[in-house]
Parts: sequence; structure tokens; C-alpha cells
Amino acid sequence: MATTLERTSTSRLRGLRCRACHVLQPADDRYVCGDCYGPIEPEYDLASFDTESLRDEIERGPLSLWRYAPLLPVAQPRGHFAVGWTPLVEAPRLGAAIGVARLFLKDDSRNPSLSFKDRPVAVALARALALGLDTIACASTGNLAGAVAAAAARNGLRAFVFVPAGTDESKVAGAAAYGANVVRVNGTYDQVNRLCARLADEERWGFVNFTLRPYYAEGSKTLLFESAEQLGWRLPDHVVVPVGSGALLTRTATAAAQLRGSGLVDDGALRIHAAQPAGCAPVSDAVLDGYRPVRPVRDPVTVARSLAIGAPADGDGSVDIIRATGGSAGSVGDDDVLEGCALLASTEGVLAEPAGGVVVATAKALAVRGAFADDEVVVLYITGNGYKGALTAASLRPAIAADADAFRAAYAEVLA
Ligand SMILES: Cc1ncc(COP(=O)(O)O)c(C=O)c1O
Ligand SMILES: [Zn+2]
Repeated sequence: MATTLERTSTSRLRGLRCRACHVLQPADDRYVCGDCYGPIEPEYDLASFDTESLRDEIERGPLSLWRYAPLLPVAQPRGHFAVGWTPLVEAPRLGAAIGVARLFLKDDSRNPSLSFKDRPVAVALARALALGLDTIACASTGNLAGAVAAAAARNGLRAFVFVPAGTDESKVAGAAAYGANVVRVNGTYDQVNRLCARLADEERWGFVNFTLRPYYAEGSKTLLFESAEQLGWRLPDHVVVPVGSGALLTRTATAAAQLRGSGLVDDGALRIHAAQPAGCAPVSDAVLDGYRPVRPVRDPVTVARSLAIGAPADGDGSVDIIRATGGSAGSVGDDDVLEGCALLASTEGVLAEPAGGVVVATAKALAVRGAFADDEVVVLYITGNGYKGALTAASLRPAIAADADAFRAAYAEVLA
């Protein structure tokens, strides 16, 4: 089983540490702890960095997530398209509308397949190529399918993407257009997940969120790496994170620890908040119920289908992190989600899919609860693009004749 791989030129990977029994494992092809089958995570030799040269290396690096190669477990694959280095934009009009004084958007809707999932997939892909695999696969609520399909197409690999049959059609269509085998399964995401866990054991594929998960999840650190660099090498005071499996939220905390540990930022506090739709809010509900253990949601029903994961792999880990950082959570209804999307688009020109509306609505609820001081920097992760579908037109007026008078008559009260 052990195909030990050479360390990349700049990565300071020390090995992968088990979160359960804390044993450090070599970076061979195991994806769970060899001793106790617990989850394993890459660990780096942070103390070995000279902070100034590390910052220099990053700032001179590519305009993609690979600028953080020293803090990633694999080297940049040749030939893949650029992923990451998305804008961090100030959002004063949205801030005024929801009562947040210093609001920023990390606009990750601008990745190649239009969601942040291109990041974890880029790292998982690099690992799959290093292992010589010819097939990549995933269980997906929609966006991961597109990201895996695009990455496979770009690198000449075969792809299998497994999705619940109720997944947004535009996302499924995109994955199919990239040439992936799109396997639609009658069931919830959690049923798809169980099927894939079994296939991951039986097939020698790079299953990005199973057999490559320790690498895959590392890609999600890079939203915070970038946000901190874009703020002039400082941590935000708050970040609001949409939660599905909880990988993005938990790795946001990992990223903060690594930025501090390598001296790239000072010891500022970062409070991490979870954003979930009320129809599937196992993590937010656990936080709001006094940080109790996560209880799975059996039949998620929400317009934010990309977040409909009832039994999140990193659910309890997310709750622990939120508690430890002094964060909180939002569990927001579908009407508020769609209003959040409309508000984001109409105040800042950023069209997000419902996951973005969940984040905006959560930030608004947190602001009402007094979670943010006026001098604190609040970053919202906008992780998926509205042009991938899933949004329905809120209030379209009837079509008019191609005639100026018809236009003025129909829009009299807007023009007045
Ligand atoms: C747009 C979007 N945002 C956020 C998430 C949540 O990511 P994670 O599964 O890492 O919690 C997902 C997928 O699950 C997603 O598709
Ligand atoms: Zn272990």
C-alpha cells in the first residue's frame, strides 16, 4: 500500500496527524489513521519558516491558491487551470442594509467552475496525479460535481460524480458537459455518501471527498489565507462560513492557526460563524442549542440544496471550533435566503447562488444580535455563483412591445 512520495520543493509537510489518537503518519496512500482509522490531517513544520522569506515567497508566487504551496501538502500540478486568488471586496451598501459597519465579501463565485469547490479539487487533483490515478470521483450536492468534472476534463482523467437525483439541473448539466459520468441517485446526499464510501473502498479511484479527503480539505484553507493577505496580512475579526460537510469551516480554523504559527499574522482573534438554511441546519442548531453534539437531519428540505448535508462529516468539529473561537451561527429560512441573494446582487453586483443568501441572511441575524462591533472587520464567504442556476426570478414584469411608449407606460412609477 505504501507508495511514499517525495516532499515538494517548498512544502513543509511533516506528515499527517490522526485527530483521534494523535499519531503522526507518513504521507503514503492511506487516508485514515493506520492505527485507529481516525481522520488524519496534514501537519507542517511551522517553526522552520523564516516569516519574512515565507511572506516574500508567497507574494512573489502565482496568482492562484498555489502561492501558498509551502502550507499545502502537494505541489502545483502542471497544466491545471488557475484556481483561487479571488477578490476580497468591500461591501459598504450591503453593510448598510444589514447593519455591519466594515463588511467584506470574499467573492469565490469567480472560480473556473463557479464555486469555491475548485480549491479543494485542485489540491485533491494534484494528489491524484502524484499517485498516478486515472479516475477522480466524488459525492456532491452539485458544485463539487462541476469542479471534479472540470478538473478531470482539463487533465485528461475519467470522472464519476454521484449526486442526489434532486440536484439543481443546471449543475448536473454542467458536469455532464465537461464529460463526467454523472450518476444520479434516488436518495438524499447522505445516502449518496454511503454508496460512495463503499465504492471508494472497492475502486482504485481518487475519490476526492473520501480517499483523497485529507488533501481535498486542505484546499479550503486558502480562502482564509487569501483573505488575510488581501487585508494586509491580518486576520478578519469575524468570518461567516456556509456549512455543508463542515470542511470549509474547520479548515478556516486550521488556516488561522497556520497563519499565526508561521508568524504571517499577529495573534488577533478570529471568530468563526456557521451559516446554514433552517431546512438543514444540524451544525447551527447544535451551536444555538448550547454547543450540543450534532444530530443528523434525515430529510433536508431547503432552497439552498448545495448545503443539504444532513450528517456532516466535520459537524462536531465545526461546533467545537465555533465554541472555541467565540463564534455563533445562523439558521435562516428560505425566504430570508432568497432575500439575501437579491440584496447581495442589488447592493454590490455579486450574483450568488442560495448558499450566498444563507451567508448574508446569517450575517444580518448576527448583526441584530450585536455580534459585530463597528470597528471589526467582517468577511462573508460567497462560495457559489448565481449563474449556475438554483435561483428563480423573483419578480419579473411582463414583456413589453419594442416601443418607447410601451416602455414608459409600463415603467411609469420607476421613472417618476
Ligand atoms: C456553494 C457551497 N458553499 C459551501 C459549501 C459547504 O462546504 P463544506 O462541505 O466544506 O462545508 C458547499 C458544499 O457543500 C457549497 O456547494
Ligand atoms: Zn489514530
